Amino acid sequence: MSRTAVISIILTAGLIGCAPAPEVKKERPKVTRTSFGNTPEGTEVSLYTLKNSNGIEVGIINYGGIVVSLKTPDKTGHFADIVLGFGSLDGYLKEHPYFGALIGRYGNRIGGARFTLGGKEYKLAVNNGPNSLHGGVKGFDKKTWDAVVDNNSNSLILTYTSADMEEGYPGTLETEVKYTLTEDNELRIDYKATTDKETVVNLTNHSYFNLAGQGNGDILKHSIQIMSEKTTPVDATLIPTGELKDVAGTPFDFTAPHAIGERIDDAKDEQIKFGGGYDHNFAVDGQMGTLRPAARVTEPTTGRVLEVQTTEPGIQFYTGNFLDGTFPGKGGKVYKKRYGFCLETQHYPDSPNKPQFPTTALKPGGTYASTTIYRFPAPAR
Ligand code: GLA
Repeated sequence: MSRTAVISIILTAGLIGCAPAPEVKKERPKVTRTSFGNTPEGTEVSLYTLKNSNGIEVGIINYGGIVVSLKTPDKTGHFADIVLGFGSLDGYLKEHPYFGALIGRYGNRIGGARFTLGGKEYKLAVNNGPNSLHGGVKGFDKKTWDAVVDNNSNSLILTYTSADMEEGYPGTLETEVKYTLTEDNELRIDYKATTDKETVVNLTNHSYFNLAGQGNGDILKHSIQIMSEKTTPVDATLIPTGELKDVAGTPFDFTAPHAIGERIDDAKDEQIKFGGGYDHNFAVDGQMGTLRPAARVTEPTTGRVLEVQTTEPGIQFYTGNFLDGTFPGKGGKVYKKRYGFCLETQHYPDSPNKPQFPTTALKPGGTYASTTIYRFPAPAR
């Protein structure tokens, strides 16, 4: 053995000898499954609970791929459930405003409930004024998905095959949605889809957040920043006019943080009037297809923070303007007007009828892929 080799062995041994004790990694809990009841057709619905080593916990059911609970700590370390929803399957089986659900095949509105693709006209369910909303009468939010757990990545993988012409959309769509809870306190959602005929696809998640805890008042004092210089203004039925409009000088300028309630009832603003508050798509700054910051929300009393990143071109900011206290929420809470907000990452509404917007068309051989991250950084003290 050469002299240098001997020296290096001695040095290495010395280093090991005085190395600090290795940090004991807390073992991350495994994903658990329990029954969440049966659908009227007798299919069992499962509740999957994903946890990380920091105590964050998310509950997801395979009916509608619904996020039914999400527990995160406040600045004192107290955990609370910060998403709106129901305590049992019954609530989700009835009509409800898409609490926590996966939305497809086309999230948001399609004007006149129709579109043409490849020279053919397709007619959809009219379920929102004259328009089609969130995939029709029985969208992906009302389907039972197949579920597989991946404990290595702390993920739940949901798959659903949407038949050709289901809800009027052409093509058999093979859909996969992967929910992952990371050690960096992120709920990551990876969407994928393929088709056997040209179709349109726009998938999202419709969670309603209240960072003060679900049912604990309205969200008007939450402060939000949206990384967007332009919105897609809408008509009175919330269909985009097709323009992109600068947010500067309007109640839609969230390029710096503002309280949600500050300008939400600005009677002078026609867009606010149409939405009954915020119910608008913001064009996210930066390159679509790359994961980039889209929004950041903070809640002053609990210090909770939510950061949203997405590869999508847009994000719908909806302030629960239609909530009216009629839904019996979790733990006996009722959800009144503006008790929750949604940040639905997406392609722009009515894209199938707006050639100037980024396309939502998917062809056979192509793959629709999109990622959104909801991150919960350490609360501000
Ligand atoms: C979306 C729409 C809203 C409303 C809710 C559900 O966010 O943009 O207008 O329909 O879903 O109530």
